[in-house]
Amino acid sequence: MKNTVKPKNCKKIIIISFISISFLITLASINEIQFGNLSNIRNCAIYSPSVENSIHPVIKSSEEDEIRILVGILTLADNHERRHFLRLVYGTQQVVGAKIDVKFVFCNLTKEDQKTLLALEIMLHNDIIILNCKENMDKGKTYTYFSSLPDMLKSDDLDAINPPYHYVIKGDDDTYFRLPKLVETLRPLPREDLYYGYVVPCPSMDPFVHYMSGMGYLVSWDIVEWIKDSEIPKRHLIGPEDKVFGDWVREGRRAKNRYNAKWSMYDFPEPETRCTHELWPDTVAVHRLKTQEKWVRTLDYFNVTHNLKPSKMYHIP
Ligand SMILES: *[C@@H]1O[C@H](CO)[C@@H](O)[C@H](O)[C@H]1NC(C)=O
Ligand SMILES: *[C@@H]1O[C@H](CO)[C@@H](O)[C@H](O)[C@H]1NC(C)=O
Repeated sequence: MKNTVKPKNCKKIIIISFISISFLITLASINEIQFGNLSNIRNCAIYSPSVENSIHPVIKSSEEDEIRILVGILTLADNHERRHFLRLVYGTQQVVGAKIDVKFVFCNLTKEDQKTLLALEIMLHNDIIILNCKENMDKGKTYTYFSSLPDMLKSDDLDAINPPYHYVIKGDDDTYFRLPKLVETLRPLPREDLYYGYVVPCPSMDPFVHYMSGMGYLVSWDIVEWIKDSEIPKRHLIGPEDKVFGDWVREGRRAKNRYNAKWSMYDFPEPETRCTHELWPDTVAVHRLKTQEKWVRTLDYFNVTHNLKPSKMYHIP
């Protein structure tokens, strides 16, 4: 991870900082250096071993060449509990050298009480996207999602990071993404014209024949912009959303770069189908987590609570 400051460099950085700060006492004109070094000291603290064991949200740094990913989880406004649970699952994953925003995506609110509840949720978490659509699964919600993003994320600030994300994911709320593994598989891949996911049908291994399963697929930002601008998706909105998505890229001759993440992505082992296998370490995503028991078995398998700090305040056997 060349773009992060490693703890072993901290000593050096702190010494350099000390020297430059001493200079600054007499040379007030080189203020900028002070700021540069101070921010490095802050990075040292973030990555120092003493806080390595603590559970805290995805590390966000402003490194320019870090991978930026938007994970949009399509769900329903009333699914408060699922969102609460997914915030636990994603908020405790650490990804160094990447900026990953997990957001929950649904259509227009329809009930009075939703206005208050959702506004409160947004005030606390700011991780919700409400699209201009009537709630649906296979009648264009996915189109509205992708095609709304460029305007939604466009900034008037000329210094704004562009593109806002290198990659955008459409995911289901019964899919568990292991974000560090996801980033690991993305690092060597192109950042343009990319379509990444689990090839359908289950036995197929050729990403150029069919399409990626709706459990969670990823595209590069240029494809998001193409979806917004092209007439092809607009003409074809009805049908299983993942298949329809595949039809767009085929008709538009997009996604010359494709990556089949099978068998790092798969359905939960039970019930056993041609789309499953046992849980294994090399996992980017597990799908069809339809019950709490399946979620817990999956989270336990991946040791997600191993870093829990001991404390006098609780005892978890
Ligand atoms: C969604 O809500 C907005 C704002 O209230 C409204 O202008 C728009 O017409 C609604 N869209 C649909 C598809 O109902
Ligand atoms: C979880 O922890 C156990 C015990 O330390 C270890 O044997 C196993 O490989 C870990 N599993 C994964 C998926 O990392």
